[in-house]
This record gives sequence, C-alpha cells and structure tokens, in this order.
Amino acid sequence: MKAIVSGATKGIGRSITMALAAEGYDLGLGARNLEELDFLRKEISAIYPSLEVITKSVDFSQKHETRNFAETFMHYWGDVDVLVNNVGVYEEDNLDELTEQGFMNQFNVNFFSALRLTQPFVPEFKRRKSGNIINICSVLSKKGRKHAISYSISKQALYGYTKLLREELRAFDVKVTAILPGSTNTPSWDGIDAHVDEFVQPEDVANGVIMALKSNGLVEEIEIKPINPNY
Ligand SMILES: NC(=O)c1ccc[n+]([C@@H]2O[C@H](COP(=O)([O-])OP(=O)(O)OC[C@H]3O[C@@H](n4cnc5c(N)ncnc54)[C@H](OP(=O)(O)O)[C@@H]3O)[C@@H](O)[C@H]2O)c1
Repeated sequence: MKAIVSGATKGIGRSITMALAAEGYDLGLGARNLEELDFLRKEISAIYPSLEVITKSVDFSQKHETRNFAETFMHYWGDVDVLVNNVGVYEEDNLDELTEQGFMNQFNVNFFSALRLTQPFVPEFKRRKSGNIINICSVLSKKGRKHAISYSISKQALYGYTKLLREELRAFDVKVTAILPGSTNTPSWDGIDAHVDEFVQPEDVANGVIMALKSNGLVEEIEIKPINPNY
C-alpha cells in the first residue's frame, strides 16, 4: 500500500503521516524544508524499517513544482492507494484589504495544489477501480470567517471540488473524503495566544483519516470541532 501526503512535516500532515506509517503504508511526502523532511524520513524509518519513505522538497504554491512532484511518484510507483491533500496556509484578511495577489497566494496552496496533485492520478485510480483521496478542508469550508476571506473562499473551493470529485469517482469505486477540522493544535498557531490544549489535536484528525480508509462504506466527510464553542 502506498500513500502520498502533502505538507507532511508538521501539524496535521505529520500526524496523518505517522498514522499511515503505523498502518503499513509506504510513503511519498512533500513539504518545502528539506532538513525537516530528512528528519521525518529517518524518524519513520527508525520505527518502521521495512517501509519505503520517499521525501521530496516542493513548493505546492508553484504549479510546475506540484505537477513535477505528482509525476515523480506516478513514474516511480505507477499508482498510489491513498492521496492526502493536506497542505494549506492560513492568513487573515478582510474584504477591505483583499488584494488579488494576496488571494492567489492562499488559493494556490489551499486549492490549486490539491487540484494539480490529484488530476494526474485520476486516470489510474479509475483504471484500477480503487483508491482513496482525502482532502483536508476546514470548518470554514461551510461557514466562512469575515476576517479570513481568502482562506475561507479557498477552502470552500476545495470542499466544492471534493464533492464533485466524489460523485465522479464513486462510479469507479474510488472514495473521496472531506475532513473539516475546526481549530487544531498545530504549529500554524505558533505565536498566537490561544488555548491550544482545548483545540482539536492533530491525532484526532489522523484518526478520522484512518477511520475513513478502513471503512467499508464511503465516508463522505468528517467534521471535528473543539468541544468549547468559543474556539
Ligand atoms: N490548524 C488548524 O487549526 C486547522 C484547522 C482547519 C483546517 N486546517 C488545515 O489543515 C491543513 C494542515 O494545517 P496545519 O495547521 O497542520 O499546518 P502547519 O502546522 O502550518 O503545517 C503545514 C505543513 O505544510 C507544509 N507547507 C506549508 N506551505 C507549503 C508550501 N507552499 N509548499 C509545500 N509545503 C508547504 C509545511 O512544511 P514547510 O513549511 O517546510 O513547507 C508543513 O509540513 C491545512 O490545509 C489547513 O488549512 C488547519
């Protein structure tokens, strides 16, 4: 079994990666920082020496780098069983200060990376009539935040794409799942005064991913929120 995770070195991506390793998946992992990728690869290999762990430095905001990342694994592995579109960036803006450039910076990472990473694998998923695509959306995919306009719209686009992709691929026995976390305790909150111990933990999200992968049914979406409604 083979799985690809975007944004694998920190936070939710790292927890999903470790959970997939524990389930016996060979791993194709992408993020920008090469040292952190090397560290993660060595960490996984020390615990699970029989797994193949391939890391590749990539900037998922860049179209050609993202396509190249997908093609590297297409050529090397031929197919994958699980694709986790996790990478994302959160920056706040409101309608008054919204710029096209600022919007595109988040849209490229949060939406286009998933589209560009997924599309090359779709024909092979269809041909094999198996596979899972997991898209890490957000609670803001359903209800936007007025102080995070670009982020909200990019996650709504990802959620919309996920639903259309699911309807297309279910006829081929390929499962597409949206995960919608609320505030989750990851490094993306570093420097912000927040009660992160009351947040969703990245392991909770990873558990949801594994549950979706193991289900006999089609888990369409999983929404996980902190129990405290103020978060
Ligand atoms: N944390 C939350 O509260 C929360 C809530 C709902 C949804 N989410 C979503 O969950 C996903 C993961 O969030 P997180 O909080 O776990 O993020 P995080 O802690 O900031 O980690 C982001 C990961 O993605 C990589 N990354 C970031 N930008 C990249 C780029 N342009 N190209 C390649 N890799 C990149 C980072 O490594 P490098 O820096 O080395 O590239 C890192 O491995 C995102 O889609 C986010 O929108 C998070």
